[in-house]
Parts: sequence; structure tokens; C-alpha cells
Amino acid sequence: MGIHIGDTAPDFTAATTTGKISFHDWIGDDWVFFFSHPGDFTPVCTTEIGRTAQLADEFAKRHVKPLGLSTDGVEEHLKWIEDVDDTQDTTVTFPIIADPDSTVARLYDMIHDHESTTAAVRSVFIIDPDKKIRLTMTYPMDVGRNFDEILRVIDALQTGDTNHIATPADWRPGDEVIIPPSIDDAAAKDLFPQGWTTVRPYLRTTTL
Ligand code: BEZ
Repeated sequence: MGIHIGDTAPDFTAATTTGKISFHDWIGDDWVFFFSHPGDFTPVCTTEIGRTAQLADEFAKRHVKPLGLSTDGVEEHLKWIEDVDDTQDTTVTFPIIADPDSTVARLYDMIHDHESTTAAVRSVFIIDPDKKIRLTMTYPMDVGRNFDEILRVIDALQTGDTNHIATPADWRPGDEVIIPPSIDDAAAKDLFPQGWTTVRPYLRTTTL
């Protein structure tokens, strides 16, 4: 069964490169960027783990904990991390789940059997402090993820939560936002005293 937006993220315990975690307890009051990898010592994964480590301050600023997964063991992960640090000029400090029997990968539908019956595809789950799934993305094994987009969508989710807004195509922090149709004009007056532009009755834009 797939994992859908709005679902509670399935809980689990697992061994990681920083020790055993109980997922919901580990999340605490933070957000999570949970992302899977086909395997250790593979080129695309090496760049993605490295990029995540390089962006540690960006994730921390947003109260987001990165959590990797690949279907290899802890020992292999730790050796691989040495390579990642070396080749990507960074220091990996976030945990990577060791999932050699694919238990967590199967729980999160990260194994796509027509691609591989043992290795995970590149899944992304953004999970909020209420442990709800807020975004899912799936990339194939041979395409590295866009980390600008991962940070952008976290910004969009957090800005939306705080301000009761939606975000338009290609939105970036600071751009105009959208007043969702669920908020009528009377309610919008209270929420958006700065006013808004009615492009169409269903398309109202404002600035924050
Ligand atoms: C990689 O990470 O480079 C990779 C892994 C599995 C299949 C294709 C590419």
C-alpha cells in the first residue's frame, strides 16, 4: 500500500549510522526530510548524501532533520560515509537507516519491484512535527534529486501553515502568494489586512 499525503507516517525502529532510532520519538517537534537510496558506494547516491550534508545549516534553519535510507548494513554505510565526506568535501552527521532486509523500505513503498526487488528507488517524504506526510516525490534510480526544490517545497509548506496561504507555480520566498478558495472575502479581510488583488474570484493574490 502506498503512503499518501495526510497519512500519519508509519512508525518503526531501525538501526542507523548514529544508533538505533524509534522514528516518531526521533522526530520530536521537528520536520523530517526522509529520503531513500538504491545503494551504498553508488555515484548518484554519493552526490545526494553529500549535498544533504552540505545543506545542514539550511535544513537546521527550517527545523528539518534529514534521514537517509539504503538497503545496506550499518558497517557498509559507515565506510561509505567516509567516501562521501572525502569526495563531496563535507561531513555527514545526519543518520542513514540500515535496512538490509528492506523492512522500512517496504513499509514506505520505496521498493518498486519492476525496478529492483531489493534496492530502493529515490523516494522523498516530508513529514511535519505532527508526524503527518506533507509531500511525497519519487525519482528513478539514475536521476539525482533537486535539492533547491526540496528546500523550496519545505519553505512553501511552512509558509502556508503559518499564513493560511497557498503558493503559485515556481513560488520562492518573498513572492506573491495565493489566498485559498476555502477562505471567503469576509474571512480574508481579517487574515490579510494588507489587502489582495482579485485576478478572478477564485484567484486572489497577496503579499506577506
Ligand atoms: C547511483 O546512485 O548512482 C545509482 C544507483 C543505482 C542505479 C543507478 C544509479
